[in-house]
Amino acid sequence: MTFDPARRRFLTQATVAAGTLVAASLFSPEAVLAAALPDDWQLGFADLEGDLAPTAMRLVQGRAPYGLAGRLYRNGPAKFRRGTTSAGHWFDGDGLIRRFTLGEGGADLSARFVDTTKRRIEVKAGAMIVPGFGTPAGPGVALSNNDDASPANTSVMMAGSEMWALWEAGSPMRIDPVTLETRGFRTLGEGLEHMPFLAHPRIEADGTVWNLGQAGRQAIVWRLAKNGVLEAATPVELPRASYIHDFTATERCLVIVLQPWVRTRDAMPIVDALEWRPELGTQVLVLDKADLSRRRVFELPAFSFFHLGDAWEERDGTIRFDACIEHDPAFGASGARALIAGHIVPSPLPTLAMIALHGNGRGELNPTGIAAEFPRSDPRRAGLVRRYSIHTALYRGGPLARGVGVFDWRTGRDSRFDFGDRQIAEEFLFVPAGAGEADGWLVGTTLNLAARETELHAFRADDVASGPVATWSAGTALPLGFHGTFVA
Ligand SMILES: [Fe+2]
Repeated sequence: MTFDPARRRFLTQATVAAGTLVAASLFSPEAVLAAALPDDWQLGFADLEGDLAPTAMRLVQGRAPYGLAGRLYRNGPAKFRRGTTSAGHWFDGDGLIRRFTLGEGGADLSARFVDTTKRRIEVKAGAMIVPGFGTPAGPGVALSNNDDASPANTSVMMAGSEMWALWEAGSPMRIDPVTLETRGFRTLGEGLEHMPFLAHPRIEADGTVWNLGQAGRQAIVWRLAKNGVLEAATPVELPRASYIHDFTATERCLVIVLQPWVRTRDAMPIVDALEWRPELGTQVLVLDKADLSRRRVFELPAFSFFHLGDAWEERDGTIRFDACIEHDPAFGASGARALIAGHIVPSPLPTLAMIALHGNGRGELNPTGIAAEFPRSDPRRAGLVRRYSIHTALYRGGPLARGVGVFDWRTGRDSRFDFGDRQIAEEFLFVPAGAGEADGWLVGTTLNLAARETELHAFRADDVASGPVATWSAGTALPLGFHGTFVA
């Protein structure tokens, strides 16, 4: 496989240039006006100082569901401060892989930091100096490529027998799925070192992996076989340099949502190079998987977002997908910075919406008004028609979730369970138990602020409102994570 070297340099130059920048103030004007983060919430953004050896979890409620066995791997930042310095954003802490094992013997938990170049540089310096999404470069830091800046902290995926820890602006990092030991960055092909690879790949039912890598208006469409071997890396020009954290796909198309939060200059941290331009509206670029040069562009009202659900195509050609949309990017731009500094900045909550892209070229945005994040669904239905969206549920009073819900697009009904204001809910995944779309378990974690412990929960997908059928406690609190995968 060959790849235009000039394009590759273009994709990497932004981060290389960042190595020469000098630290700027971590605090935005909004942070100064913000309320203090409640003491117990700080547990979600605390520093973990070391790895966690495999430890049995305690069943605190219910009974382990018959037949639910496997490993839930989750990733998320867990170390934000060194010496007198701090990461400038929630998204920039060091990646910690958590492994929750469920089986006949009960549940156990282990966790291990990803041994990244960034972490090594910062351990040696005794300071947080590597630039990131919202963290400026510290004095003296010199990076030679995107991977040097990777905290490998956003998600985790299986690629054949390998497990990869994912970020979004650099290569996947190989992790041993048993010991959680770091094995080094995975270069996907010759000449493709240090290339961006999003933390939200779309995986078809047969295991084919589609993903994007992005820098400004340049993108690469990655296609990998089920075993992680590269099948194609195709450069694509985007209509605008939107911030892209996630995209989606139907069986036949890639669906790339271009929010009007756009890169307007070459600067680090990334968030400081982005400008909110709502007058531009949101665009959706649809590419045919079979021929990526075949493209359509749809127009939608302006919204910001981090996460989309799986898309599908109806018989009449209409493409539909769910999204958790925000009125503006205030949370990503300043709210998630303030959390690390110990503040809460008021920002609009994300709400669940359905987007339709009609055959006549018209785009349609239908909000539900339900405050929700981390949309997920049955992985067997990726790219296919489906009825339900699994989501975390947010409530007034804070930017973090405290419930889990299942929205039924056929009836418009949201079934949900509220853990209460002493718990913070993380992402929940669907684990199939039978052929039906609601025939399975929701498996996910919360941070119990009252008990100061991380908890693992299993719900019946068809009866979320009744609460978890089983809850295990870790006996320790891990900082909040982002995304994961369940391996049966
Ligand atoms: Fe994400």
